Amino acid sequence: MSNKKEIIIKATKLKKSFITGDTEQTIFENLDLNIYRGDFTVIMGSSGAGKSTLMYSLSGMDRPSSGEVVWNDKTITSLSDDRLAIFRRKNCGFVFQQIYLLDKMSLMDNVLTASALSGTSKKDSVKYAKELFELVKFH
Ligand SMILES: Nc1ncnc2c1ncn2[C@@H]1O[C@H](COP(=O)(O)OP(=O)(O)OP(=O)(O)O)[C@@H](O)[C@H]1O
Ligand SMILES: [Mg+2]
Repeated sequence: MSNKKEIIIKATKLKKSFITGDTEQTIFENLDLNIYRGDFTVIMGSSGAGKSTLMYSLSGMDRPSSGEVVWNDKTITSLSDDRLAIFRRKNCGFVFQQIYLLDKMSLMDNVLTASALSGTSKKDSVKYAKELFELVKFH
């Protein structure tokens, strides 16, 4: 078996900028990054440095202004919006900085929303949600 580590996320020449009025604010550019299977990878930087913006581009939560993001062999930056949504649903778990719960719904229904979209049966989803609540000692 080869000792070479497998790259699971590869970003090439990534750029993200925001345009407000006639000013362009570049958050990062020419960014190359490899993330390897099995590693615990941390992105560090001061507040406003662009960590969340980078995570959104890497995860397909948002699109970079230019450059490419490849997960295994799939170039997610060239997927259509619908295919990107399916890719995220299947492959990506994301803990947001803000909680983004839908406040008109119970916590259980918030948790069940993602599995409803994935087509898992309600019974299995509720069982799994209860296991997750147990895991974080939520009663
Ligand atoms: N949608 C947006 N429109 C315009 N500017 C934005 C947008 N999102 C982020 N920014 C700007 O991009 C920069 C990076 O923000 P980001 O939230 O990625 O920083 P961060 O490193 O995650 O900060 P923190 O440690 O506070 O979470 C900031 O200057 C922010 O104001
Ligand atoms: Mg952030």
